[in-house]
Amino acid sequence: MRRPVADPDDGRGPQLSRRGLLGALGVGVGALATGAGAPAAAAATGGDTSVWAPTTESFFGEHQAGIATAPQAQIRFVALDLRPGLGREGIVRLMRLLTDDIERLTTGRAALADPTPQLAGDPGRLTVTVGFGHGLLAVGGLLAQAPSWLADGLPAFSNDHLLSRWSGGDLLLQVGGDNPMAVSHAAQVLVTDADTFASVRWAQSGFHRAGSDASAPIGPSGQLTGRNLFGQVDGTVNPVAGTDDFDQVVWVGSHTGGAATPAWLVGGTALVLRRIAMDLRTWGSVDRTAKEEAVGRRLSDGAPLTGGGELTAPDYDAVDSLGFPVIPATSHIRLAHPVDPKERILRRPYSYDDGMASDGSPDAGLLFAAYMADPQAQFVPIQRRLAEADLLNLWTRTIGSALFAVPPGVQQGGIIGQSLLGG
Ligand code: HEM
Repeated sequence: MRRPVADPDDGRGPQLSRRGLLGALGVGVGALATGAGAPAAAAATGGDTSVWAPTTESFFGEHQAGIATAPQAQIRFVALDLRPGLGREGIVRLMRLLTDDIERLTTGRAALADPTPQLAGDPGRLTVTVGFGHGLLAVGGLLAQAPSWLADGLPAFSNDHLLSRWSGGDLLLQVGGDNPMAVSHAAQVLVTDADTFASVRWAQSGFHRAGSDASAPIGPSGQLTGRNLFGQVDGTVNPVAGTDDFDQVVWVGSHTGGAATPAWLVGGTALVLRRIAMDLRTWGSVDRTAKEEAVGRRLSDGAPLTGGGELTAPDYDAVDSLGFPVIPATSHIRLAHPVDPKERILRRPYSYDDGMASDGSPDAGLLFAAYMADPQAQFVPIQRRLAEADLLNLWTRTIGSALFAVPPGVQQGGIIGQSLLGG
């Protein structure tokens, strides 16, 4: 619940509150929404552009941030369940509140009634991406507008070991950023503000890799991509943001199939989140050749077993001197590779490490987050093949699963999900 705090800017020095300032200037809330970086800082310091300015990702736009955004170092996924009887009106009020909070937090300003406004000033590319689960549309009386894949849900896969404590949810908040303090703070503020409307179902945290510029090449080998906790280069074959290919794979649009494309979701996407526990101990005892055959790529640099560098296309027809495929039939990349050209997804995986048992065995794995226009056509066939035969399954266990429709981006003065909710 929102706390009754008299001065929302309390603790940030003797400055006029933002609403007060906007009122005094006669400016709408949206007008100062973007560009809280250098120009805003410069204006506040009388034009001195040499001052430090927070790094921000734009909140407003055609699509929500946090999807095409270069992966940040930290992530927090929080799933909420709506309180019974909320109805569409209640959801609209919640979205209005979250939209205002997110707009402020992602531009380095405290939320209204923020209990710790001191933590808001360094957002570190903070993004908050909001997803709607099947339950939100049900509570809002909006099921007639659900895309077919959300109405049906994901099918059960043969190697699922799903736990309800990591699965489902009416509403998702995906909070990403390079500053762990800002990510923690934003998640706390949003969940606290949503408290009258919704309760936390689960929360999962992950990390990508240290460093503030996740788009820069890393490593002495000039390797482009981060690694997962198996030590594999993970994320090589992926659509590239800013290309037509990316737009086709990720955003719902006229190219997406009929029942998968309600008009309100155009410019949005789907998020599939799978929590996959990884048995790091048994993996650690396997020799390098077996590890490389399980995925079909070299551990050292992520190059396919058929040679070249990380970005060289695998040769799936190549055979060894005995006539066996160099990239085994049950290797992860061969099975994950599209059979139908439609079967492509944007992967944005994060590792998780939630501590250790008393015998030292880690509670660790992958938060496999993938975005696509139509999960039924794009994700399900890949996951079916992997569930049946992927060698990596020997060391992995899928223990959580959730599916969300991610509405399009927010326009200034609008709210998240406006095209569905009105308001
Ligand atoms: C713990 C679980 C997983 C691990 C450790 C893992 C690891 C990897 C690695 C190392 C690669 C090769 C490099 C790259 O292209 O990124 C890869 C590729 C890929 N993975 Fe996974 N992965 C996991 C789960 C999944 C799941 C659940 C899916 C989808 C259902 C998936 C889909 C893909 C796809 C589509 C590719 C690219 C295939 C291609 O080359 O066309 N992965 N994965």
